[in-house]
Amino acid sequence: MFSHLPLYAGDPILSLQQAYLAEPRADKVNLGIGAYQDENGAIPTLRSVAAVRPVLAADLGPTPYQPIAGSKQYRDLVTELVLGSDRYRKVGERTVAIQSLGGSGALRVGCDLLKRYFPDSQVFISAPSWPNHQAIFEAAGFKVGSYRYFDATTNGVDFDGMLADLQAMPARSIVILHPACHNPTGADLTRDQWDAVIKVIAGRNLLPFLDMAYQGFAEGIDEDGYAVHAMVDAGISLLLSVSFSKTFSLYGERCGALVGVSADADEAKRLLSQMEMSIRANYSSPPTFGGKIIARVLADAALRQDWMDEVGEMRTRMLRMRDRLHAGMKARAPSLNVDYLLSQRGMFSYTGLSAAQVERLRVEHGIYAVNSGRICVSGLRDDNVDRVAAAFAEVMHD
Ligand code: LMR
Repeated sequence: MFSHLPLYAGDPILSLQQAYLAEPRADKVNLGIGAYQDENGAIPTLRSVAAVRPVLAADLGPTPYQPIAGSKQYRDLVTELVLGSDRYRKVGERTVAIQSLGGSGALRVGCDLLKRYFPDSQVFISAPSWPNHQAIFEAAGFKVGSYRYFDATTNGVDFDGMLADLQAMPARSIVILHPACHNPTGADLTRDQWDAVIKVIAGRNLLPFLDMAYQGFAEGIDEDGYAVHAMVDAGISLLLSVSFSKTFSLYGERCGALVGVSADADEAKRLLSQMEMSIRANYSSPPTFGGKIIARVLADAALRQDWMDEVGEMRTRMLRMRDRLHAGMKARAPSLNVDYLLSQRGMFSYTGLSAAQVERLRVEHGIYAVNSGRICVSGLRDDNVDRVAAAFAEVMHD
């Protein structure tokens, strides 16, 4: 019956993680998957999560179905978090949110509804982007194109190219944007550049779908929301997928949200109902426990502050590792320009390592990075960063 099915080649990031786990060398280094590792190489349990999880677990009781859109308290708290409380008060009635299965689930719910009501629109992702962006939008039936983004000569953003490509898009094109901590490059837009992008989006009547999976890992929770805030302030209708996998270190709980900001309360009602229709036809309603943890933390001023401090600690550690990798490489190969390590932000850096160099790192040094040359800087630690710097310098120099 199924013999005609082709084999799925696997996802480049998740397959790499399996290969890393199977690697027997004790000094292996995981610079692959975008999951925050602490200074001991472990996925941490955040203090704020540890404070509420046992309390919630002890008081579980029965587990009825949640409403299709998920917990109202969670949805309200998340919307307030991503918009900022003053803005949330102002635009709340034209804003909707559903509790999603991580960021991927939010993207899928959003693109299913877009495919129904914007069937002729094309989707554009940055070149390059997170590989699953293309997979998710194509699975929903969209044709996925790209706009210029990364400039390999500067290791920064090709902003003129990006702007020119946005200007050339047909009206109602769907543009996937990364508000902060661009995945995979770590190259972000400045505020002035966002302002220019917003003018083009408004002028060309484009539909932005923002994907925010790392809020707080670049500059801070509020600072990393700039693109979202500025678009809402400019009166632009948008969709926003949110993931808490990394910022709450709750990967397996699959906690995220799809937020929609529309023109008025009537549109908002229609938008929410269509999100609910997509969810019902996909997985019916979201699970309970992870969302309860997040809502409990966000609803309590002290726990929320502690969580924000923890996000700050993760951010600071990654910045320190960027500094150490940069210094280690400069010391070993002064002619290499690796200043991009200092200007790129968030979990990822696009190193310019070729697929062959990435292969050498894996085979000769037990260092795992994505074939595209993306590294996850949280896999660096005080006890491995010098070895990684030496290995990078060696393969880049040869
Ligand atoms: C990544 O980019 O490594 C993460 O977002 C994990 C994933 O699902 O790909």
